[in-house]
Amino acid sequence: MKAVSVADYRIIAKKRVPHFLFEYLDGGSFAETTKERNNSDLESIALRQRVLRDVSEIDTRVELFGHSYEMPVALAPVGIAGMYARRGEVQAVRAAEAAGVPFSLSTVSVCPIEEVSRVASKPFWFQLYMIRDRSFMRDLLARASEANCSALIFTVDLPVPGSRYRDYRSGLAGESRLSGNIRRIAQSLLRPHWAWDVGILGRPHQLGNIAPVLNRDSGLEDFLAWIGKSFDPSVSWQDLEFVRDNWDGPIIIKGILDPDDARQAATLQLDALVVSNHGGRQLDGVSSSVKALPGIVDAVGDQMDVLVDGGISSGLDVVRMLAMGAKSVLLGRSWVYALAANGQVGVEHVLELIHKEMLVAMALTGCRSMAEIDTGVLNS
Ligand SMILES: Cc1cc2nc3c(=O)[nH]c(=O)nc-3n(C[C@H](O)[C@H](O)[C@H](O)COP(=O)(O)O)c2cc1C
Repeated sequence: MKAVSVADYRIIAKKRVPHFLFEYLDGGSFAETTKERNNSDLESIALRQRVLRDVSEIDTRVELFGHSYEMPVALAPVGIAGMYARRGEVQAVRAAEAAGVPFSLSTVSVCPIEEVSRVASKPFWFQLYMIRDRSFMRDLLARASEANCSALIFTVDLPVPGSRYRDYRSGLAGESRLSGNIRRIAQSLLRPHWAWDVGILGRPHQLGNIAPVLNRDSGLEDFLAWIGKSFDPSVSWQDLEFVRDNWDGPIIIKGILDPDDARQAATLQLDALVVSNHGGRQLDGVSSSVKALPGIVDAVGDQMDVLVDGGISSGLDVVRMLAMGAKSVLLGRSWVYALAANGQVGVEHVLELIHKEMLVAMALTGCRSMAEIDTGVLNS
């Protein structure tokens, strides 16, 4: 099957990676209502078709934190992306650079910051979770700064993990070490290409940023246990000061869904926020990010950049989010489906598809630049 859309890449990804990995990526929390809303609310936004507006020159470039990018799209931080293709984060950062968009490296990536920075020729973004051990956090921030990361994403919507039932059904969570291993190995053997290319040649399968504090021969379950023990549920607004004191560059707070929280964030001299419900993986039943977006833009849009993610799978979706007030968007699952299906080439292709779809959507709504995409392109 030749992939011509993100939906195609999802189908191919499902055939390429072991069941437990596909389910971890594709799933949301609880009944997946919010995950579905992210998609359906976005899809239901009608655009206005406009004609005869000279759309021969269209500029999709955007400036974020002093850097110019080819389009207002970034790769969102996705944990263990390096399990979806051999040294996956390295392949993804290369694809992002080729497309001229930012790449965000998760705290819980497979490849450590240093491995990614060795291949990166431009600065990338680093994402941080609040971890109980503050000296470990300080070290991580110093490593990110040493690696020339140009912005820090501080994710605040995961003081505790959401209930992701698919992971319990697939064997990723809730099993004894032995039975979990047997189930995952059995699923991996059904994907021989992945088993050789990633399972064998893609080692070590560690959480590269965390490996220094664990034993060298720790397995995936040791890392998952470390996350369970180490993420800090006591995280509060005061902790932003700790982050500010230990990071000199721009700070993006990710996981805001409520205008009151956005207003609070705006008092802290942060550079941007990401309207996000973690791709419907945290509190199921909350609003889609696109529904939450306009209220947050109204509350703080003149004080900080407002970015958004959740359910974006086409250039049309990007235009919809910009029309609702976002300055830029982040792609989560969309880039990882492509990574799983075809590595760096797949991610580059998805970014190219999204760019082309954006150009068409802008031409047919009569917009020539980012500044022209506003509520006027919405058919309300
Ligand atoms: C498999 C998976 C792992 C994720 N890991 C992280 C992470 O480590 N850090 C983080 O801030 N967000 C993480 N997210 C959330 C994404 O950054 C993003 O908010 C979400 O995927 C956007 O929704 P979308 O997948 O519908 O595009 C993860 C999402 C998925 C699907």
